[in-house]
Amino acid sequence: MTKELLKKILKWTVIGLFVLFVVAQFFPAARTNPEIVRDIDAPEDVKSILRRACYDCHSHETAWPWYSRVAPISWWVVDHVEHGRGDLNFSDWPLLDFEEQEHMLEEIEHEVADREMPLTSYTLIHRSARLSDDDRQKLVEWAEAGSGSGSDDHSDSDSH
Ligand code: HEC
Repeated sequence: MTKELLKKILKWTVIGLFVLFVVAQFFPAARTNPEIVRDIDAPEDVKSILRRACYDCHSHETAWPWYSRVAPISWWVVDHVEHGRGDLNFSDWPLLDFEEQEHMLEEIEHEVADREMPLTSYTLIHRSARLSDDDRQKLVEWAEAGSGSGSDDHSDSDSH
């Protein structure tokens, strides 16, 4: 009797989840790739790392994977890209004023040095986006030079 009941509950749970899944498909997330305003200017080696590891979430050149069509994963993926672009967007980078760029380069330096970016949930699947220590160092040095924090330190020690 209890076994029967358990079977029934299980059956209706599976059916319920399936119905939910089907209904969810009627609420697609908007997968957009707006026009590129002006792409960031960076040395070729730095740029290729950015493209490989960051552009899916921080540019208008997102390579949307097939599962980004399937709810509820689609909602999660699109949310990441929208948040990512909202914070930092290499596709309109030259429109930021100098101070904004400096600030963002500092953020990039920290996120990359602390291994916060690219997101682990992303690199688990996108193995080619993983950064070697060498890649990280290149990005950090580039961001440091651009934000002025590196060169400031030098000029200070030179002049005293
Ligand atoms: C899978 C998507 C994804 C990838 C790939 C990714 N990011 Fe992010 N990034 C996000 C999201 C989402 C946020 C905002 C929320 C958060 O901080 O977790 C963010 C935030 C940031 C911030 C913080 C901006 C601020 O205003 O503080 C920086 C800097 C950053 N990312 C740099 C990078 C760099 C550099 C790379 C590549 C090495 C990268 N990200 C790769 C999704 C991503």
